[in-house]
Amino acid sequence: MTRDEIRQAAQLEFAASGKEIRIGSEADLPLPLAELLVLDATHPQVLEAHQGGLTGFVYRLRTETGDWNIKKARSSSLVQNPDGQTSFLNEVQRRSEFEAAADRPAGIVRTRYASFQQRLIVSDWIDGQIPKFWDERRLSSLFDLLVDLHLRGFFEWDVSSGNLIDDGNRLWMFDFGYMYRFDPKVDFNSNGQAAALFHPAERFETRSYFAALLEIESREGQDAALRAFVLEKEIALAAYQRLIAELRKQGAEASVINWLGGFARRWQQALSADPAALYLAEGWRSHRLDLDDDLRGQTCTRRTLARTDWLIEAVSKHYDALVSLDALFWHDAGLTRDALRQQLVIDRRNAEGWQVAVQ
Ligand SMILES: Nc1ncnc2c1ncn2[C@@H]1O[C@H](COP(=O)(O)OP(=O)(O)OP(=O)(O)O)[C@@H](O)[C@H]1O
Ligand SMILES: [Mg+2]
Repeated sequence: MTRDEIRQAAQLEFAASGKEIRIGSEADLPLPLAELLVLDATHPQVLEAHQGGLTGFVYRLRTETGDWNIKKARSSSLVQNPDGQTSFLNEVQRRSEFEAAADRPAGIVRTRYASFQQRLIVSDWIDGQIPKFWDERRLSSLFDLLVDLHLRGFFEWDVSSGNLIDDGNRLWMFDFGYMYRFDPKVDFNSNGQAAALFHPAERFETRSYFAALLEIESREGQDAALRAFVLEKEIALAAYQRLIAELRKQGAEASVINWLGGFARRWQQALSADPAALYLAEGWRSHRLDLDDDLRGQTCTRRTLARTDWLIEAVSKHYDALVSLDALFWHDAGLTRDALRQQLVIDRRNAEGWQVAVQ
């Protein structure tokens, strides 16, 4: 079993056991518990309702003490895989660890109350925007947060824009459904060293940034997208250099240092020599991974289709470059141009069939 499978099994067992995880006390609630348990969009103090989420319903509640996020789990997640089915439990677990920590990471929302059995989470409402576009401040703030979480042994798999809020000063995380524990001195991520493809910058690029770059490509053209990519890579490079220095200081294993150092070296070289080639390789990886993820969870959207079209075009125009950059991975590695294109056409058809009504 992989590390992720061991965690999944433990979480499924916990969920079946009927055990409770509770954070905070009823006295801290902004409204009586009984009222919160039946709260929905029709409540007079609910200002906003986000009912399109895959795991739960989120309400912005206003009381005289401030604005609150009331999150309620769906009885069953719309994500059709074990991680999706246990994401609410996972979120409560992570929140209880953050609340127990002596120094909570900056940029992690405070949990005021949570109950796994009551399927309820109450936290502060963060006034701000979901980052639809990215500038230097937002990117730097995000990478600070990603490095901090990494050093503390929290690996966030779903670094998508919809899971981030910019309060004008810094970025915040508030959705921990796919954040898992790991040991940063020994592991690459929550799957030990078994899945070397996945790291914080990759997670952001895959779940968020390459979707933004896709839009820049179509609105402003390739050059503008490449400039935005270079900005992000410069910030990622500085963040990884800090991360590596800190892990080295803490006595992390050489395999971990070399693995992270490999990314930093590659980015540094590409930034001075050929950023467009790095764009192609990282774009391929991110769009391919995100497509795979959407197909596995059967949670495809219009953006899934746009990503697939990008991939099909990349195969048609840059197949040789992709091969020489060693960008093709997993079942794509070794496929001929025609076989790869054919595979993507099949993927696109499946993505058309598995469209979900969110976003
Ligand atoms: N504490 C908060 N402060 C401000 N806005 C929030 C907060 N928590 C959630 N939101 C808003 O509600 C939306 C959904 O929240 P969240 O991501 O926690 O739910 P979800 O059910 O996990 O959704 P999904 O499964 O689609 O990720 C967010 O995209 C954000 O707009
Ligand atoms: Mg979310």
